[in-house]
Amino acid sequence: MMEWLLVPLAYLTGSVSSAIIVCRLMGLADPRANGSGNPGATNVMRLGGKKAAAITLLGDALKGLIPVLLAKMLLVDSLVLSLVVFAAFIGHLYPVFFGFKGGKGVATSLGVALGVSWVLGVAVFATWFAVYKISKISSLSALVAATLTPLYVWLIVGDVHLLVAFVVISLILLWRHKSNIQRLLAGQES
Ligand code: G3P
Repeated sequence: MMEWLLVPLAYLTGSVSSAIIVCRLMGLADPRANGSGNPGATNVMRLGGKKAAAITLLGDALKGLIPVLLAKMLLVDSLVLSLVVFAAFIGHLYPVFFGFKGGKGVATSLGVALGVSWVLGVAVFATWFAVYKISKISSLSALVAATLTPLYVWLIVGDVHLLVAFVVISLILLWRHKSNIQRLLAGQES
């Protein structure tokens, strides 16, 4: 029964916005009001460069990875694990500590994928990286990786609860990128 407490715990972990904290600590502009307005690693890169972006990426991935690994250590069933995965992701998008205005969930979805299965995490990251190498567009890389993630989950993990969680995560992630999609279609994405 106690294992269900991992779900709100994952939401709280996901609510820690690395982008906002890193920008505050490093004296950078608020990512919610500058650049693309998104509190995520890509926008921190625009505002503060590679080091700040790398710390943001690491923080946002870890806050997804840690609760999932904890849940796996406690041998929860796949339903609870899938809810932990989803809760960490939703925490990033709707953070209780930052007025429920969060990011798009790319790094956190990578973190939860790594926690579920390192092979899955590597497949997702390799997809993101391959598209980025070709296009140099972060959002396009995220869109392709998110689209393929449910297929990877099915092939690598093969669990229905986790498949549903990642399908919903991918759909939300695509929806959160709607302004990026419009810019991509207009050839104006940075
Ligand atoms: O990680 C989010 C990325 O895919 C897009 O970010 O700032 O270009 O909207 P941004």
